[in-house]
Amino acid sequence: MPIGQATLRTAPIGQFPRHAHWSAAVTLGGCLVITMAAIGVHLGGTCSCVAVYKDGRADVVANDAGDRVTPAVVAYRENEKIVGLAAKHGRIRNASNTILKVKQILGRRFDDPQVQKHMAESKCSVIDKDGKPRYEIDTGEELKIVPPEEVMKLIFEKTKETAQSALGSDVNDVVITVPLDFGKNQKNVLRQAAQAAGFNVLRLIHEPAAALLAFGVGQESPAEKSNALVYKLGGSSLSVTIAEVNSGMYRVLASHTNDSIGGECFTDALAQYLASEFQRLLRHDIKNNARAMMKLVNSAEVAKHTLSTLESSNCFVDSLHEGLDFDCSVSRARFESVCSALFNQSVQPIRKLVEEAGLSSSDISKVVLCGGSARIPKLQQMIRDLFPDVDLLNSIPADEVIAVGAAIEAALLLGKENSSLEEASVIVECSARNILAKESNESGSDTYKVVFPSGTPLPARKHHAFQAPGNASSVCLELYESGEKGCEQERNKLAQIVLRDLQLKEGSNHDILSVLTMKRDGSLHVTCTEQGTGISEAVTIDVVL
Ligand SMILES: Nc1ncnc2c1ncn2[C@@H]1O[C@H](COP(=O)(O)OP(=O)(O)OP(=O)(O)O)[C@@H](O)[C@H]1O
Ligand SMILES: *[C@@H]1O[C@H](CO)[C@@H](O)[C@H](O)[C@H]1NC(C)=O
Ligand SMILES: *[C@@H]1O[C@H](CO)[C@@H](O)[C@H](O)[C@H]1NC(C)=O
Ligand SMILES: *[C@@H]1O[C@H](CO)[C@@H](O)[C@H](O)[C@H]1NC(C)=O
Ligand SMILES: *[C@@H]1O[C@H](CO)[C@@H](O)[C@H](O)[C@H]1NC(C)=O
Ligand SMILES: *[C@@H]1O[C@H](CO)[C@@H](O)[C@H](O)[C@H]1NC(C)=O
Ligand SMILES: *[C@@H]1O[C@H](CO)[C@@H](O)[C@H](O)[C@H]1NC(C)=O
Repeated sequence: MPIGQATLRTAPIGQFPRHAHWSAAVTLGGCLVITMAAIGVHLGGTCSCVAVYKDGRADVVANDAGDRVTPAVVAYRENEKIVGLAAKHGRIRNASNTILKVKQILGRRFDDPQVQKHMAESKCSVIDKDGKPRYEIDTGEELKIVPPEEVMKLIFEKTKETAQSALGSDVNDVVITVPLDFGKNQKNVLRQAAQAAGFNVLRLIHEPAAALLAFGVGQESPAEKSNALVYKLGGSSLSVTIAEVNSGMYRVLASHTNDSIGGECFTDALAQYLASEFQRLLRHDIKNNARAMMKLVNSAEVAKHTLSTLESSNCFVDSLHEGLDFDCSVSRARFESVCSALFNQSVQPIRKLVEEAGLSSSDISKVVLCGGSARIPKLQQMIRDLFPDVDLLNSIPADEVIAVGAAIEAALLLGKENSSLEEASVIVECSARNILAKESNESGSDTYKVVFPSGTPLPARKHHAFQAPGNASSVCLELYESGEKGCEQERNKLAQIVLRDLQLKEGSNHDILSVLTMKRDGSLHVTCTEQGTGISEAVTIDVVL
């Protein structure tokens, strides 16, 4: 039974001034009276956004500076830590004490390629501490070693403060979104950071699921099965997901993530253009002057945002270089031509993914836009051109969509407790990563068999039978998780089960049957039984989702 329906106010493309008040009025099925309040948080690589569910509706809450989205930037000063826009602006002077994109390295090991990439780009030094990355911060008085989870906690604290300014300090229940490709350890560390900040984490849900929920996709009544595409272009990443939706359930058919393209690339391209204008007009090359370029990047970002609503924008930087001011006007058309290759790179994966899912563009009935960069009119136009007949869902400001969906999920989770509906679940989760069983073949080489491929709708149960040499007295089943296509090599061990004291069988094998059950909350229960003797072991692994 569908229990969530969203009624949304619509606005024309590109008309979403950051400060405009927007809200989604959500009525939950009419049969539930929801009086509780709950919080939804999206904490991305670049920005965080928080929405609250209260009085039957989900609303984004502005921070103390009046902004509905807060940069996920933390600055360390002598005696204080600053989170948000002030930290971001202070970076021009204090780059080495300012931490950006902490989410990129959260819960990862030092030798992870993502951490290495982050290190190369970070102006704040990152060191190896027992195989884990740590920030090294010099506040003048002492050298501080700061773990990423501590930085994350500070951002969560700020987020909680913002939410509680609207709800009061006794509301701590939250749903937090994570990218589809977040691993187990990343989720655990994120959850702990949120708890350390005082949140009671009801659930972590995937960003595309939250985006679908924000628009009530798949909640239609009567239920109809359809395919939806969630397009997210944030500040530092692109992700495209195709999901099958049906009466509140969704199943990921295909997904694509690229951490090398995001809004920042557009800002940088515009900043490069501004630098060449500066050179043309004032005959100074500033492209190698890091501080001047940072100022120009800030100015370019403001201009880029303006150009999503207006046809032209003015860029002014006081004393950009050797006391010279910079003043220049940029048109939307200029911005679009400066970034034309980036626009192509941002939409190309869509077509490929639709093919990969074995679909054509006419099989997609809804496209949800999210991520701040999806506010760019040209991008919206290009996506519309790819899907001329679909419902393009863009009425919620793109950088707020995911937080709104998280708040709705939080309300549904709380509401469920007191509801008389037994199966009042709105979303069926799916496994984001492959779950594999390790086997050794006759020649002793390790092979990995996929038990739950990524995208398996949950709950799910699988049988996995295997054999072990009869002369062995113990047998071990090892379970792993791995990423999507392309990064299967990146395996994480989840658990192992050992069957001991088996009767030796000369000349034959032990037959082992394992039964794996993965629940909606991501917990994985595994039992392993030796068929001859019935010797059995079981283990439950927490939250794999
Ligand atoms: N009005 C706008 N026009 C164009 N771009 C915008 C606008 N508002 C925000 N952005 C861009 O959106 C990006 C931030 O997106 P979002 O808030 O979705 O971040 P995020 O989820 O942290 O992304 P990621 O995790 O990929 O870093 C920034 O690059 C910002 O410049
Ligand atoms: C830079 O950091 C120093 C020392 O932590 C602090 O005193 C100063 O105010 C910071 N400057 C800016 C512009 O944020
Ligand atoms: C972008 O793609 C379009 C259509 O495929 C093509 O005509 C155009 O030349 C491309 N532009 C760039 C800069 O790659
Ligand atoms: C990610 O995007 C960059 C920039 O567009 C591109 O060069 C790269 O090939 C992309 N990577 C993948 C895996 O698609
Ligand atoms: C659910 O009901 C219990 C007992 O009636 C009450 O204490 C609690 O606050 C309710 N929870 C919500 C979310 O309404
Ligand atoms: C065992 O696995 C290895 C590696 O996958 C493979 O090369 C080999 O052929 C396999 N041997 C047998 C007997 O299946
Ligand atoms: C079991 O037998 C194989 C050969 O059949 C041998 O290589 C292996 O060492 C034996 N293992 C044990 C534990 O005896």
